[in-house]
Amino acid sequence: MQKILKILAAASVLLCAAAASLRAQTLTERAAPCLACHGEKGVSETPDIPSLGGQPAPYLLIQLYLFREKQRKVEIMNEMTKGFTDDDLRNFSDYIAKLPPPPALADTGDPVRMQRAGALITQFRCNSCHTLTLEGRENIPRIAHQREDYLARTLHEYKTNTRHGYDGVMAEVTQSLSDAQIADMAYFMARFR
Ligand code: HEC
Ligand code: HEC
Repeated sequence: MQKILKILAAASVLLCAAAASLRAQTLTERAAPCLACHGEKGVSETPDIPSLGGQPAPYLLIQLYLFREKQRKVEIMNEMTKGFTDDDLRNFSDYIAKLPPPPALADTGDPVRMQRAGALITQFRCNSCHTLTLEGRENIPRIAHQREDYLARTLHEYKTNTRHGYDGVMAEVTQSLSDAQIADMAYFMARFR
């Protein structure tokens, strides 16, 4: 009798392990199309598509929610998140947050432009929220070493109110920025060390 109980206990441990690995595998499989666009190692190699590596899970969760609810309007992302459950939103966020952060561009940039742009980041207090290393935290995204094209475009979209954030903070911050200042800041964020 005791032997049978032992065998049953062992079998149920095995079953649990199998079920867990099946769930893990399923998420990896489900994330494959996401990473085909966003970059398998967290770094996007496609123009206009953001890198996702190193983004804080709470930021990702909010953005996936905004996509699902069509409050952040981007056709492909609204389509990808259609039908996601709240658990899906959480699982994808936790999974993606573990991808390694993108490195700085190898090109260290024009020193004069880097200095001018760095001064703007301080002047507009971008680093007071996004942290001194621009790595973000909680609901505030990592902007360090993000793709330059995406950074410039998304800042324009906040400014023109075509990207609606979780709150109005970025719309306010970008109101007084000129196109040249936005371009400089994007240049800086992609390269700084
Ligand atoms: C066909 C390409 C494509 C696929 C597939 C795709 N995405 Fe995206 N994703 C984009 C684009 C383009 C954007 C930028 C949206 C914008 O212009 O603001 C984006 C934005 C995002 C963002 C916001 C990033 C940020 O910094 O704000 C997250 C998070 C995201 N995608 C997660 C996912 C997940 C999870 C999946 C799979 C379920 C997925 N994506 C599938 C193209 C794609
Ligand atoms: C008061 C805090 C605060 C300040 C100051 C601030 N940000 Fe943000 N930023 C946020 C938050 C919160 C978000 C996410 C908003 C959302 O839901 O879209 C964000 C989003 C962004 C994004 C989008 C990142 C992505 O992956 O899509 C960029 C780029 C950005 N900020 C750059 C800047 C720059 C450049 C400055 C300075 C000019 C700045 N921020 C100042 C809080 C701030």
